[in-house]
Amino acid sequence: MQNTSSLVYDQNAFGKLSERERSFTMASYILAIESSCDDTSAAVLKDRDVLSNVVASQMVHQKYGGVVPEVASRAHDEIIWTVVEEAIKRAGISQSDLQAIACTRGPGLLGSLLVGYTFAKALAYALHIPLIDVHHMQAHILAHFLDDPAPDFPFLCLTVSGGHTQLVVVRDHFSMEVIGKTLDDAAGEAFDKAGKLMNLPYPAGPQIDRLAKEGKPVFELARPQIDGLDFSFSGLKTSFLYFLRDALKEDPNFVTSNLSDLCASLQERIVDILIDKLERAAKETGISQIAIAGGVAANSGLRQRLLLKASQHDWRLFIPKLEYCTDNAAMIGIVGYYKNLKGDFADPEARPDARLTWND
Ligand code: KG4
Ligand code: ZN
Repeated sequence: MQNTSSLVYDQNAFGKLSERERSFTMASYILAIESSCDDTSAAVLKDRDVLSNVVASQMVHQKYGGVVPEVASRAHDEIIWTVVEEAIKRAGISQSDLQAIACTRGPGLLGSLLVGYTFAKALAYALHIPLIDVHHMQAHILAHFLDDPAPDFPFLCLTVSGGHTQLVVVRDHFSMEVIGKTLDDAAGEAFDKAGKLMNLPYPAGPQIDRLAKEGKPVFELARPQIDGLDFSFSGLKTSFLYFLRDALKEDPNFVTSNLSDLCASLQERIVDILIDKLERAAKETGISQIAIAGGVAANSGLRQRLLLKASQHDWRLFIPKLEYCTDNAAMIGIVGYYKNLKGDFADPEARPDARLTWND
């Protein structure tokens, strides 16, 4: 067992370590925990190498058509220990090999965050190792550093998930500036809410992606006119609702008989909106290293269009592996790796924060 207990709640102690102690602390096995929404995930990283990445997705929300916060936190509570044990087992190490625990502190659903964060804090305390706070959206972006080649700085990242849609200039691992964001719904929400209107189970994004491959974008859906680099998706959702309502009056089977074309049209429009702003941002900032992150970055229509744009504009493009797009603990672990190098550990008084900002 390493003698890292002095690091637990005393950040300054890190600077006082001897060279030997410091290098011992640096060669790190980090346990990472993610529980901000409806996926319970744990990973073990050895420095930047992912030794295990276990994700338990909560299927229980399907019957409600969306995530129910109370149900989500209970489900995390039931499975978190199993997921963590499995991650440690698959990594081929034991608890006593761990040198730090990184955990999502926010943003996300408070009840869900509380389960993961309290668990992580208690385990770190019991093992006498430091706890590292992780910002969930920063982790989606730094997932690009799990694989080589990683982007050079600065790069521009389109971060698109179920809760966020942002354009971020990434100047350093911890220097990030949001230059555009959604004014209402996130891109993932647009997929999920439109999917619900078509009676697709939650989360509808992956199914719309699959069905769109069999259809054509024959329906002309609304395109929001928003100035600058901000996004808006609520108008698209409302116009899709009215479009379906009118079409269903004429033909009660309209949705079932046109499902793949509807999915293709919807996906095409969402991708249009995202790509349009991304192109503008690349032009305005002059940055040609372009990355995508977050659950919607798994969308095949978005990935294809990006490849096309990259060759048109001569962009150096970074698209994460599918498993690192949707919520996972490996991305939490890579943030933990960089923060551990800096000796940037959690405040013992820290609590999870559903609205955590970049600089908290
Ligand atoms: O990043 P993520 O796993 O969780 C959040 O932090 O929100 O993103 C989940 C979102 C959901 O809205 C889901 O429908 C969407 O990502 N999503 C997709 C695809 N895979 C996941 N949307 C479109 N196409 C996909 N293939
Ligand atoms: Zn996420």
